[in-house]
Amino acid sequence: MPTQVIALILCLAIIGTVLSDCNSCTTSGNIYCADTSDCISVDNFNSTTCGTPINVAFNCPTPPRVPYDEEFMRTWMYVIATAAQNENPQLCFDNQLPTLKLYQYRTVNCSADYPDVTCCGYTAFDTTKRAIVVAFKGAHGDDQNTVLSQGESVNGTIPFFNNGRVMQVYLDSFMALWNGGIQQDLRRLIYLYPNYELWVNGHSLGAAMATLASAYIVKSGLFKSENMKVVTLGTPSVGDLEFAMWHYNTFVYSFHIVHRYDPVPKNSVLDTVHNITLYHQRTLVWYDNYMRVGDPYIICLEADGPYCDGLAIQNNSMWQDHLYYFNILLPDWGHAGCPKNISAYQQP
Ligand SMILES: *[C@@H]1O[C@H](CO)[C@@H](O)[C@H](O)[C@H]1NC(C)=O
Ligand SMILES: *[C@@H]1O[C@H](CO)[C@@H](O)[C@H](O)[C@H]1NC(C)=O
Ligand SMILES: *[C@@H]1O[C@H](CO)[C@@H](O)[C@H](O)[C@H]1NC(C)=O
Ligand SMILES: *[C@@H]1O[C@H](CO)[C@@H](O)[C@H](O)[C@H]1NC(C)=O
Ligand SMILES: *[C@@H]1O[C@H](CO)[C@@H](O)[C@H](O)[C@H]1NC(C)=O
Ligand SMILES: *[C@@H]1O[C@H](CO)[C@@H](O)[C@H](O)[C@H]1NC(C)=O
Repeated sequence: MPTQVIALILCLAIIGTVLSDCNSCTTSGNIYCADTSDCISVDNFNSTTCGTPINVAFNCPTPPRVPYDEEFMRTWMYVIATAAQNENPQLCFDNQLPTLKLYQYRTVNCSADYPDVTCCGYTAFDTTKRAIVVAFKGAHGDDQNTVLSQGESVNGTIPFFNNGRVMQVYLDSFMALWNGGIQQDLRRLIYLYPNYELWVNGHSLGAAMATLASAYIVKSGLFKSENMKVVTLGTPSVGDLEFAMWHYNTFVYSFHIVHRYDPVPKNSVLDTVHNITLYHQRTLVWYDNYMRVGDPYIICLEADGPYCDGLAIQNNSMWQDHLYYFNILLPDWGHAGCPKNISAYQQP
């Protein structure tokens, strides 16, 4: 074979490699097929031959930068999220995590229109784990659900500093709590326990508030993102692509856990007021089962879209998958103070 031809083949091979890189492929406006590693122009795209198409760099296959510690999620983060359901989270701690100590539980009114709509969250600390905890409660009651759906459809997103846009109604809910005591409590704990980690966590609306709390805490210079662990359960999408990318670039330790057909993460995909697609922060961990001890899970390499949990049947009747996480009925177990005997709270 003439050397020119070999050189040409090599050259094409190199160009092929460059074009097959997901980041450069998507940023140059093409579609990357993760299953075949091909970069295809929009005009030549054929969904039959491209099983996993990626058109934004944020979705390029990337493993998480820290390991997913399932035991930690199940035993610690799950109880921390559930304890927000109880006005006295210490009941949950005493039953499940006795080294964890409540600092303050906060309840604020968070709607101008409905006097019964409250937002709740708490701070806690653990001297054995050297961790400060801030966690938020999910939506409770019909009026709060009305406030949330109205906020989503009437107000949509607003700018978040210079890092994209976030849903106003979640930000308003979080800010009500922040200004209603959480900020003061957190500052006090950071003063009392310097060099501790900060764990930020929540379920449902509480997960949306946890996402915004993590972002706001870093933006206000209160804590360094590298010492934070951000974990959400069944979170709606909080912001646009720019916000989600900023969150990913800011938080190395961030997981959003989704239970099977949980409709909440899947229903919140668009700011219809401004016609802006919303994204979840990375990294999605999806359980296509009851989340029993030993059940498998998928650590999603893509961020958000028709991958992993996006392939699940979208079924709004599957609300139980939003309320059960790790095979325990989260609100009821929390209200009861997280009793040791969980058999009455397991998914039938
Ligand atoms: C897409 O690919 C399939 C399978 O190779 C082929 O049958 C089909 O004709 C293609 N569609 C288009 C629009 O080219
Ligand atoms: C919330 O509003 C209700 C009714 O308006 C009022 O009774 C209550 O004190 C308020 N709670 C707080 C924490 O401001
Ligand atoms: C929507 O925006 C209006 C005007 O800024 C504000 O008064 C209202 O409280 C917002 N509603 C929600 C649910 O955020
Ligand atoms: C919304 O945006 C998408 C693409 O970003 C566009 O295709 C669509 O036409 C827009 N819809 C409206 C109602 O503007
Ligand atoms: C949705 O869930 C309901 C309740 O579990 C079930 O009866 C129904 O068959 C499901 N629909 C689809 C399309 O899977
Ligand atoms: C645990 O709770 C179940 C259902 O409430 C009950 O039947 C069972 O006896 C309890 N087990 C223990 C060891 O208390």
